[in-house]
Amino acid sequence: MTPSPSAVILVAMDTNGHSNWLEIDLGAIQNNIRAFQQLTGKPVLAIVKANGYGHGMVETALAAQQAGVFGMGVARIEEALLLRKSGITSRILVLGYTQPARIAEAACNNISLTVYDHDIARAYAAEAQKAGFQVKVHVKFDTGMGRLGLFPENNLDFIRWMYELPAIELEGIFTHFARADEADGTTTRQQYARFAQLVNEVEALGMRPPYIHTSNSAASLAHPAVHYDFLRPGNAIYGLNPSAEVTLPPEFRRALTWKASLISIKVFPPGHGISYGHRYHTTGYERIGVIPVGYGDGYRRMPNNQVLIHGKRVPVVGSVCMDHSMIQLDSVPDAAIGDEVVLIGTQNDEIITVDELAQKWETINYEVVCGLADRLPRVYFND
Ligand SMILES: Cc1ncc(COP(=O)(O)O)c(C=O)c1O
Repeated sequence: MTPSPSAVILVAMDTNGHSNWLEIDLGAIQNNIRAFQQLTGKPVLAIVKANGYGHGMVETALAAQQAGVFGMGVARIEEALLLRKSGITSRILVLGYTQPARIAEAACNNISLTVYDHDIARAYAAEAQKAGFQVKVHVKFDTGMGRLGLFPENNLDFIRWMYELPAIELEGIFTHFARADEADGTTTRQQYARFAQLVNEVEALGMRPPYIHTSNSAASLAHPAVHYDFLRPGNAIYGLNPSAEVTLPPEFRRALTWKASLISIKVFPPGHGISYGHRYHTTGYERIGVIPVGYGDGYRRMPNNQVLIHGKRVPVVGSVCMDHSMIQLDSVPDAAIGDEVVLIGTQNDEIITVDELAQKWETINYEVVCGLADRLPRVYFND
């Protein structure tokens, strides 16, 4: 006899009316910020760019502000302006490129900008002077990252020039580490040595700006000697490990859970193709569920995905679609429509971490969370 699918009963669960959503524990983010402050004795500039690493930039920043951060770090002026509009009153530093034409907006909104070459500095100075504003800048030095920044050697005259320009307030100098998340700290120590030499020279000339900073999450955790005035952690404040080699201390907490509801169950006969391309065929009568989660949400079209239901791991079968994925339910015979499915997070004693997904998707945890689509409802709570 062919087993029959469960009756379609839409169960009222506490899903806030959503069938695919993120739960974000702002208390965990605040806990992690405080953990950094306690661990290092340094203030924290919370990095909230890229929609707060997928966690929601405004909500994350407001929680971080409440936790007493020193400021916020973003990549773009648009992010900084949104933070200002949303009630962020603390310091904001734009870490990436800002067009000189936006100097007045930056100055009027008390937003600090990054200068990483001479031309940008000249353009900012000219624009600020023209508009009659003073713009706050941090000069970025490339001590080994191989990305944005001036080389630390031979730039003292440039620092002096900036220091003396009335249109520019030299608020900080900084560098960024390329390999602080590796067990071998050689490159980080070399980068630090180059930067420290520059800082010594700047100090000797009496031109030390108020803020010198270096440390992303990994350096904040693994290289206590390199921090200077404040930390610039991003992924660790969300409870994510910087890498497999530099992991979080136990007091840090994960902030993110990804859940969905089971929206369909059918029993397919043997040899039935599942999803686009029929990359999966049933071998016997199989109970296949559908969750409303797809690559349009940031769930990757990769093999071997698993989810949790009734506290058990079950495989995602067939191709992940834009809005749907199919899961094999034979090991959970009592699974029913409306049941909660966990894609990231814990259910009973099982857990699927962002790190696990990153490994399966052959990427890093940063990319997994930054890929969480805007359309995913984010439900905030504070534990
Ligand atoms: C200049 C700068 N500082 C700090 C960070 C935060 O890094 P992490 O998320 O590894 O802590 C980033 C992230 O990209 C960055 O670009």
